[in-house]
Amino acid sequence: MKNFSAVILAAGAGIRMKSSLPKVMHKLSGKPLVKWVVDSVSALKPDNIVVVLGCDSEIVEKYLSGVSSNIKFVYQKEQLGTAHAVMQTEKVLKDCDSNVLVISGDVPLVKSSTLASLVKSNKKTVSAVTVLSAEVENSFGYGRIVKNNGFLEKIVEEKDASVAEKQIKEINSGIYCFNKNLWKALSKVKPNNAKKEYYITDTVAILRGFGKKISLIVVKDKNEVKGINNRAELAQAELILKDKKVKELLDSGISIIDANNVHISYDARIGRDTVIYPGVFIDTGVSIGRSCTVKGASYITNSKIGDDSIILYSYVDGAVIGKKVKIGPFSHIRPGSILRNNVKVGNFSETKKAVISKNSKVNHLSYIGDAYVGEDVNIGAGTITCNYDGINKHQTIIGSKSFVGSNVNFVAPVRIGQGALIAAGSTVTCDVPSGKLAIARAKQELKRKIKL
Ligand code: UD1
Ligand code: MG
Repeated sequence: MKNFSAVILAAGAGIRMKSSLPKVMHKLSGKPLVKWVVDSVSALKPDNIVVVLGCDSEIVEKYLSGVSSNIKFVYQKEQLGTAHAVMQTEKVLKDCDSNVLVISGDVPLVKSSTLASLVKSNKKTVSAVTVLSAEVENSFGYGRIVKNNGFLEKIVEEKDASVAEKQIKEINSGIYCFNKNLWKALSKVKPNNAKKEYYITDTVAILRGFGKKISLIVVKDKNEVKGINNRAELAQAELILKDKKVKELLDSGISIIDANNVHISYDARIGRDTVIYPGVFIDTGVSIGRSCTVKGASYITNSKIGDDSIILYSYVDGAVIGKKVKIGPFSHIRPGSILRNNVKVGNFSETKKAVISKNSKVNHLSYIGDAYVGEDVNIGAGTITCNYDGINKHQTIIGSKSFVGSNVNFVAPVRIGQGALIAAGSTVTCDVPSGKLAIARAKQELKRKIKL
């Protein structure tokens, strides 16, 4: 959408979060609040995106510079209020002659389509400002929309509201679209309120005083404009997102046994006939195929899981998992693990940067790291790839159809050919050619029992 710029306010101290982290960096479903706002604004492709930062916001700037190169930053040295924050963007935007969408960095759930309607409406109605409002049951803490004869007259903040105004259920979302009269209105804002701050909300009455048209749009879904000012509101927003995701999944043929006892990230993709049991935590970046079962206190993030797989009480991070794979109970699948079709990784086994080819099994108490395991390999209980010499990591390669007995150590780098047999209890330090039997353990001795 051309001919508009977006201003994201993110300089506030966020005192109510009681945190050493800036408020907008707190995560909602794994993504910082400010990134949610940046994402919905960016989808509209504005001419400029300007983020207002406080003087202690290096962490926000560093994070946003890393995720987008299109953002301009301006600094509000002292946090003197939301109008004062927008004033800091004047030097960047004054000559743009376009509409300005102003949005708080703490309103993460708003949809791009809602922002698009706001900007379009402000242009169409040729208004000096269009305010996005919502009808809520509990308006405490929000600016109230005060109307006169059905028209927006002014916005009053909680601390300045009269008893009658406090009863108003229509609230200011903190999202507005202005035309170029914004800058003139801002210069007239005075800190005449309980908090002695310069309020952006005062521009509404000021623009009305200029005789300009001011408009209002009521958002359909009030949850979209939920502001996050404290931990309780952050937790509520998590629930809103989770409930929405659960509903979407249930509607598309996924079973969730106890929807109150799972976490499923907003971006999870799950195929039909998959069953999610209580206690499962699906974090960001996960896709799960069809007809899978995920059971019991399993945590999955940044991973792709193929159809018909089963995950039981396991931790899966950064893995690519094929079809008909069985993981757990109590497995740890770490980044760089690639488990091909029909693989089994079982009780208390750990994999890291390891390819386990199809039909292979790592069923009990093993660590397979920096390794390539061929097809149809059986890894016996307690097998360890000794991959680290204290300085560098080294690879273990185990050829297809090999059989590894229990309690084997592979001192990497080491290469085992195809169809090899490694005797139980061996510590393998040299390569084993294909088809050979390797026994690398002390020979058993039988001695006369000493009487105690
Ligand atoms: C604000 C609105 C209120 C609205 C609510 C919606 C004002 C005066 N009030 O209240 O009407 O109902 O949002 O969620 O605008 N910020 C700065 N610099 C500052 C102060 C704040 O950049 O000096 C930023 C904050 O980082 C935040 C945003 O502005 O992202 C809003 O500030 P906040 O303190 O959360 O305002 P609310 O009390 O929520
Ligand atoms: Mg707020």
